[in-house]
Order: sequence, then structure tokens, then C-alpha cells
Amino acid sequence: MKYTLDSHVKQDLRILSVYDEARRLHEQEGLFHHNFQHVLRDLHRALLIAAEEMSVDYGVLIPAVLLHDIGFLDPDFRRLGHDVTGARLAQELLA
Ligand SMILES: [Fe+2]
Repeated sequence: MKYTLDSHVKQDLRILSVYDEARRLHEQEGLFHHNFQHVLRDLHRALLIAAEEMSVDYGVLIPAVLLHDIGFLDPDFRRLGHDVTGARLAQELLA
């Protein structure tokens, strides 16, 4: 693999902060489907795809994948949709 998560974390410690918080929130909730193992599988796939692309902003890609299902952790997701609750949570977390 051309790039690893470690190499990106070393270049931008904000990525590590997002990783730690996403992991903490997912493990706290312990969802069966949209859990942190699912997020890590998606992150692995995203890094494989991105390694073949010419120009990738990993400071955007990695946090986006780490937070893509964060909305399922908000009980309001059933009423509002996980995209809406996820955007709200991600905005708070990334601030
Ligand atoms: Fe997902």
C-alpha cells in the first residue's frame, strides 16, 4: 500500500484527534452494523482508492470517512435521518 493511516497522522495530528473521538463515540454506543470496525473497513478501502489518485486532500478524506456514520449515534437519526444528525455532530466535533 502506497500510504498508511500512520503516515497521514504524522503529517496532521488533527486526523488523530478525529480518529480518537470517532472511535470513542462508536465504541461508547456499540452499534451492531454501523460500528467502528465498519468505519475502519471503509477507511481502508478509501485509502486504497485514494493511493491511485493524483491529488487527494487526506485532511478532508480521512475525517470524512471516520465520521460518515456518526449520525447513527444520535437518537434523533430515526426522525431526522443519519445524514442530518451526522452533519450536525461532525460540525460540532470538527470545530
Ligand atoms: Fe457506513
